[in-house]
Amino acid sequence: MKVQFVRQTLSTVEADAVVLIAFEGDGKPKGGLAELNSGNGGWVDEVRASGEFHGKMLETAMLHRPKGLKAKRCVLIGGGDAKVFGPAQMRKLVGALARKLKTHSMAHAALFLDGALATEDLAQAATEGAILGNWEPTVHKSDKKDVRFLASFTVSTAKGNLAAPVERGSIVATSQNFTRDLVNEPANLLTPMVLAKRAQEMAAEEGLECEVLDRERMEQLGMGSLLGVSMGSSQPPALIVVRYRPAKAKSKDHLALVGKGVTFDTGGVSIKPADGMEKMKYDMAGGAAVLGAMKALAKLKPSIAVTAFVPAVENMCSHNAQRPGDIVTAMSGKTIEVLNTDAEGRLILADAMEYARRQGCTHMVDAATLTGAVVVALGHVHIGAFSNNDEMFDRVAKASKGQGEKMWRMPLDDEYKEYLKSPFADLGNIGGRWGGACTAAYFLKEFACDTPWVHLDIAGTAWLDETKPDMPKGPTGVCVRTFIDLALGW
Ligand code: BES
Ligand code: MN
Ligand code: ZN
Repeated sequence: MKVQFVRQTLSTVEADAVVLIAFEGDGKPKGGLAELNSGNGGWVDEVRASGEFHGKMLETAMLHRPKGLKAKRCVLIGGGDAKVFGPAQMRKLVGALARKLKTHSMAHAALFLDGALATEDLAQAATEGAILGNWEPTVHKSDKKDVRFLASFTVSTAKGNLAAPVERGSIVATSQNFTRDLVNEPANLLTPMVLAKRAQEMAAEEGLECEVLDRERMEQLGMGSLLGVSMGSSQPPALIVVRYRPAKAKSKDHLALVGKGVTFDTGGVSIKPADGMEKMKYDMAGGAAVLGAMKALAKLKPSIAVTAFVPAVENMCSHNAQRPGDIVTAMSGKTIEVLNTDAEGRLILADAMEYARRQGCTHMVDAATLTGAVVVALGHVHIGAFSNNDEMFDRVAKASKGQGEKMWRMPLDDEYKEYLKSPFADLGNIGGRWGGACTAAYFLKEFACDTPWVHLDIAGTAWLDETKPDMPKGPTGVCVRTFIDLALGW
């Protein structure tokens, strides 16, 4: 899709549909709306007075061949309550709009922004919405006849220049879609090594450094916790490392983005039930999110060093698989009794986090589809966020708020340590029936040590089970925008 900013008046916008946003309780039409209204016999007043259009979120009214406009159609879309309308609302609104326009073959869409809407933040969010809304998980469909896409999206204002935010939005959303494409790939096509190859290709394209640690190297480093998970699979594991270094660093801080990269989670010998197991191809969504963030950061150039770490493995059951009761030694030296082979995410993250610390990272965030328990606790609304450091948590929370990626802080009190006791090793890898998201996070805390760290459990938010107006069923690409914002705002 071609994405652009054009400074022009409403009347000169050329498109299949030019879109104007109107709010609930708006008074007399102003700016572009007034122009449209007066040129078309009071059409805006009429759709409001008739009750056809109230300005509620996502409500629409359409006028064909609007007089005085070059565009073929004018679409009025409701933005809801103007007082709470911000980038998050704009992103969703344009996402839903893009999905609607493309299914009705209006391939060339334009959004006209004026008044309070002609801001950098809103133009960027609108661009993101359009690109995210244009994504479909249809790469493996052979019949694409009915799959339609927007061919172009234009942001227009009569005054000022919003080219830079439109460009930024394009970088961010394209990167988020890169993540969604990775998550969408089935596990037969996206093995740990294929994920590593995709990361290397992305890094080469963006001018980033990429290093892939293979099994032998990980053995040398003593990553027994990660390697234990990989034992059951014929697919070799990979620890993917992608590095971004600023030209002029503002501080000595070095941010690690760590993402769980289980390309498929059968549960291992502690095997999962068959029902819904196909979804476990998304168990690398955290890893894909950090790679997507790096893709964008290469172009947006934050002033802090950022390194991504993606431990990539396949959790299988076979005659080589690790068994419940096995005791492994993590790179940090801690011994772990593997009480349940399905609690594999924490086992691979433990070694990746230790490696990140030894690479000199001073701050750490991880994203992982870690527990079903976080879905029980927070549903599909919030990411479960855990931290050992209030200041670090605040940084991440601020970034996520601005990006509309909701998160909710969960506890990490020392009492949870009791749950992870093992009579035979330093730690067990499960904490029993209760507080599963918290005990999983506490396990990770044992490997974050004193490094300021935030853990994001995205099991409930990385995959959409039902199509929504702004997003189809499938991968969401959650955390990509928060990570980008976190690094840029450092
Ligand atoms: N990948 C799963 C977590 C998961 C479950 C994500 C359901 C999305 C939906 C993780 O590896 C896992 O299996 N966790 C177990 C932990 C348990 C064995 C302590 C879980 O949540 O059931
Ligand atoms: Mn598992
Ligand atoms: Zn898993």
